[in-house]
Amino acid sequence: MNPNTEQNNKLELLGQMTGAILHDLKSPLAYIVSNNNHLEKKLRKLDDEKLQNQLLEVIDENKVGLKQIKEILNNIGSLLKNDQDMKPCFLGAIVETSLNIIKPQANQKDVKLDYNFSTQDDCIMGVASQISQVIINILINAIEAYSEGSAERLIKVNLSQNNDKLSLSIKDNAAGISPEKISKIFDWYETSKETGTGQGLAISKEIVTRHNAQISCTSTLGEGTEFQIDFQVDSK
Ligand SMILES: Nc1ncnc2c1ncn2[C@@H]1O[C@H](COP(=O)(O)OP(=O)(O)OP(=O)(O)O)[C@@H](O)[C@H]1O
Ligand SMILES: [Mg+2]
Repeated sequence: MNPNTEQNNKLELLGQMTGAILHDLKSPLAYIVSNNNHLEKKLRKLDDEKLQNQLLEVIDENKVGLKQIKEILNNIGSLLKNDQDMKPCFLGAIVETSLNIIKPQANQKDVKLDYNFSTQDDCIMGVASQISQVIINILINAIEAYSEGSAERLIKVNLSQNNDKLSLSIKDNAAGISPEKISKIFDWYETSKETGTGQGLAISKEIVTRHNAQISCTSTLGEGTEFQIDFQVDSK
């Protein structure tokens, strides 16, 4: 057998097995989440305050772990989608949906979102849910980068067009990234956060590359960070 065909068959099998494992993990995960929430409700009625606080702390730790497992499963799931799912879609609308999803989180941290759309043709070939995942990953990172003291928190999102190139820029005025760290942010498992998995940007880069697009990041420590993604307009 041709070594490439053999390699492709193995990869396909690996993809199918991973998909099956992800599927099977979803229901036990759902009942652990549900039981944890149920326990929390019961504990809140406990009379012994000291014991209550100790156990609620355990419940909170469980929640952090469960959230991470959920994120890892979602990320792997999204990587398993293949190119056949690519369809013409409108980038402006995907950005808008992503901003709406993230709005409650931004409000909670007092971060304003400003969206500027200035393109004639925003049709691209892609998987809308994956592109939205990239935008959301970048926005969440930006929101998380604001420290306690930061005032006038503003994330500017800009979609512009230059001939057949569509550029999406997401710019925050948060903590910024040091020159030593910036070269590593797209690496797998690279994180500066206590509860981070360091997968957000690695997976985003993978998705962007699949879409024949390019992602880049510039940052100044203490001033802020800008991510830019350049897509190709689908003019067919
Ligand atoms: N807008 C930003 N401002 C400052 N630092 C950032 C920004 N975006 C990313 N980073 C840095 O890049 C690192 C990698 O980001 P990535 O999204 O891959 O992982 P994470 O956010 O740490 O974890 P996860 O996304 O899995 O929760 C972050 O830990 C952070 O240090
Ligand atoms: Mg992240």
